[in-house]
Amino acid sequence: MSRPTHFSRRRLLQLAAAGLIIGPTAELAFGRSQSLEATGQPIPRGVTLPASPPEAPASDSVGIAIIGLGGYALRQMMPAIQRTQSCHVAGLVSGNRDKALAVGRAYGVPEDAIYSYENFDAIATDDRIDAVYIVLPSGLHAEWAEKSFAAGKHVLCEKPMALSVAECDRMIAASQRADRKLMIGYRCHFEPYNLAAMDLMRSGAVGDIEWIGSKHQYTMGPTSPAQNWRASRALAGGGPLEDYGLYGVQAALYLTGELPARISATTTTPANDPRFSEVFATVESRLEFPSGAVAELSTSYDLPGSNEALVRGTSGELIMRPATSYGGQVMTLVRDGVSEPLTPGDPSVQFHRMMDHFASAVRSNTPILTDGVMGRRDLRIIEATYQAAESGRVVTL
Ligand SMILES: NC(=O)c1ccc[n+]([C@@H]2O[C@H](COP(=O)([O-])OP(=O)(O)OC[C@H]3O[C@@H](n4cnc5c(N)ncnc54)[C@H](OP(=O)(O)O)[C@@H]3O)[C@@H](O)[C@H]2O)c1
Repeated sequence: MSRPTHFSRRRLLQLAAAGLIIGPTAELAFGRSQSLEATGQPIPRGVTLPASPPEAPASDSVGIAIIGLGGYALRQMMPAIQRTQSCHVAGLVSGNRDKALAVGRAYGVPEDAIYSYENFDAIATDDRIDAVYIVLPSGLHAEWAEKSFAAGKHVLCEKPMALSVAECDRMIAASQRADRKLMIGYRCHFEPYNLAAMDLMRSGAVGDIEWIGSKHQYTMGPTSPAQNWRASRALAGGGPLEDYGLYGVQAALYLTGELPARISATTTTPANDPRFSEVFATVESRLEFPSGAVAELSTSYDLPGSNEALVRGTSGELIMRPATSYGGQVMTLVRDGVSEPLTPGDPSVQFHRMMDHFASAVRSNTPILTDGVMGRRDLRIIEATYQAAESGRVVTL
């Protein structure tokens, strides 16, 4: 059994503090884990790069360096950046130089704006790059946000913000020290169905909210922590809750407009399944809000696919299924036994609107809607969820 690295020991202590340790001993769990190191990966399957580079950006367009050229960056977010006038891909940071060169050619990024994880600090003097977008495995977010702020760049960081409240605190402090923006990539805050749902709930469309139900689940294919960072405790924390389940946590909060007062939870981890030797398979939680509303959330890497948010109020229901996907949202408002399908807009705008919001905040020094305080708030709820599951008790926030 190999000894844990310095980083895994630090993470171990954080997870222990958060009640996150499962398995016989922490040493055993971490002996198998990936290390907290940024390392290059092959180009993901099914990525189509743009056939021709974009036109030259406008003079006030915000230059963004993408850190981590994986599935989400290449399939969703870099194409979305190309659809904006407000920002452009000005640099790349990757551990796979050949992939980065190919991506750079497709997006019109000069070779001398392609950085590795080793020479990243040189980005500080690159005036073409105003900001970075961290699209790395979640366990690397805090470290790379701190490095980016130290280099004087604004930071857009993918969700989850990090894997612990302590890491979020470090990121917020680094942002304040550098006087640079910190945004978390919570795309649903820019998606027409979820925005309409927030408005409907605020206007009392279902009366007083009594119950929210959310499922964010899928079945992970055969894998192991060494093969897939999402199965690695060091890189993914407890697993599905930080990843897919975070959408349910977010929905419960933005639909009620409240913060939970009490949390109870259970976790499920099947024995002898390499997918779940380090992360949980399923996390189910119950959030009680001061108004009396209750949210029942389920997230899993080991259950059939489901993406839904349901709201039951004193005078109606809202059904969102799928609720938080990249596209194809379906939403129905039920009142007095009458179902009304709602089609508030094209969900695909969520990606470029999120980028527009970030670019505008950087350019005009305006507040960020999905800031580090929101990201930290959600990690506090995640930590409380694991504490509740570990102790078998209700955790009061
Ligand atoms: N908002 C959303 O809807 C959404 C959707 C999907 C993912 N995400 C978030 O985006 C982040 C990345 O997810 P993803 O699905 O894009 O992951 P992914 O496809 O596995 O890509 C991650 C990339 O990070 C880099 N990397 C550096 N160190 C790594 C390591 N030790 N192990 C694996 N990759 C490493 C690699 O890029 P290089 O080869 O270029 O170095 C890799 O291609 C996560 O935080 C995730 O939660 C958000």
